[in-house]
Amino acid sequence: MRREANRRRVLSLMAGAAAAGALEPARAAFGDLGAMAQKAGVLFGAALGSPYDGDRDYAGLFSQARLIVSEWQFKLASLAPDDGVYDFSNADRLATLAMAMRKPLKAHCLFWQAANPAWLKGLSTARLRYVFDAHIDRVVPRYAGKVFAWDVVNEPFWPASGLPGGFGDGPWYQAFGPDWPLRAFQRAAALDKTAKLALNEAECDINQDGLGNTIRPALLRLVDTIRQAGARLDAVGLESHLDMSQPYDDAMFGDFVARLAERGAGVWISELDVRDFGLPDDTGERDRLTGARVESFLNHALATRAVNQVATWGLSDKYSWLDEIWRREHAGSTRRPRPLPYDRDFKRKPMWSAMASAFVKRAPLVKANSAKPGSAGGGHP
Ligand code: G3I
Repeated sequence: MRREANRRRVLSLMAGAAAAGALEPARAAFGDLGAMAQKAGVLFGAALGSPYDGDRDYAGLFSQARLIVSEWQFKLASLAPDDGVYDFSNADRLATLAMAMRKPLKAHCLFWQAANPAWLKGLSTARLRYVFDAHIDRVVPRYAGKVFAWDVVNEPFWPASGLPGGFGDGPWYQAFGPDWPLRAFQRAAALDKTAKLALNEAECDINQDGLGNTIRPALLRLVDTIRQAGARLDAVGLESHLDMSQPYDDAMFGDFVARLAERGAGVWISELDVRDFGLPDDTGERDRLTGARVESFLNHALATRAVNQVATWGLSDKYSWLDEIWRREHAGSTRRPRPLPYDRDFKRKPMWSAMASAFVKRAPLVKANSAKPGSAGGGHP
């Protein structure tokens, strides 16, 4: 009862604050990456996983976000925890919150071959095909007009599966083969004429065979396949979960982004954060290194005008998905990952400054009278 009352209070606070422009104090306190990004023609946002309940400061951090991304609420595991049984409560709650905050919502994601509910395992091909179509038909119309964008397909590639074209194995590949992403885009576009439809992929930034070096050409081929089939594809999301223990060639990544942009879709840096597991314990050193990584990465990515959306995967180290992974892998360790622009006490870090610098550096590239940022590929609502 108290939790619900608390939720309502925070919701009304958010709505009231948004209406009364009282977000300014929060933006003054926390900084405003959203405003700097906007001057650079970029829609800045962040994934929201944990609810706002009870953490008003965390809600304040989001005052600078111009976009909310669902971290898990719109995934099949959350929407359909049991076969044929839908529970829209988490998704509806986030959609309501985004509306109260007057911020566009990107629903992530219609289909992913990982993190699916257990009931999907072992289904026949025919049943998987039914579930696939029924899921789109059930979910997309429900949120038409309420979501700015869908990550329609998440991570279609995984070269380690050994499938032709580097496709990842999983329920949807088993159902429809390499055409499953195209089917998803065709069906989603028929059900929601206005939401931006995005293809989201991981690892593209890594300079390694079997990961980025294999996935990048595969992704370009898939974008061409979808577009040549006449299906609507508004943007390609590059997750950008940077990892300090992986090899990078930002110039090469920048060239890939430019080639992706030639296809006419927007390019979205969709899940930016930095895994610092392999770095020294010293937080000052870690933050310096991760900040430098992010600044180099963004400078190369933002050199392409079509990059019109940057979202971090959360805003504070306090609520990062990496925290749980670290604790699982380092039981008893008092160290915590520092993947995001704000630390666990919501203080800005060098990553914040790196992002600010990259946005400020890009701003002059954006001609004053240019069309709305990202109009080519839907970066902005
Ligand atoms: O589904 C339940 C929900 O019903 C319940 O109310 C809620 C509250 O406890 O928990 C939900 O469970 C967990 C959810 O996170 C919320 O914490 C799921 O069991 C857990 O699997 C889920 O993990 C998410 C993971 O994707 C799998 O969906 C992480 O938060 C999220 O950060 C991570 O994000 C992925 C992107 O989707 C794709 N790119 C990689 C990225 C990191 O793995």
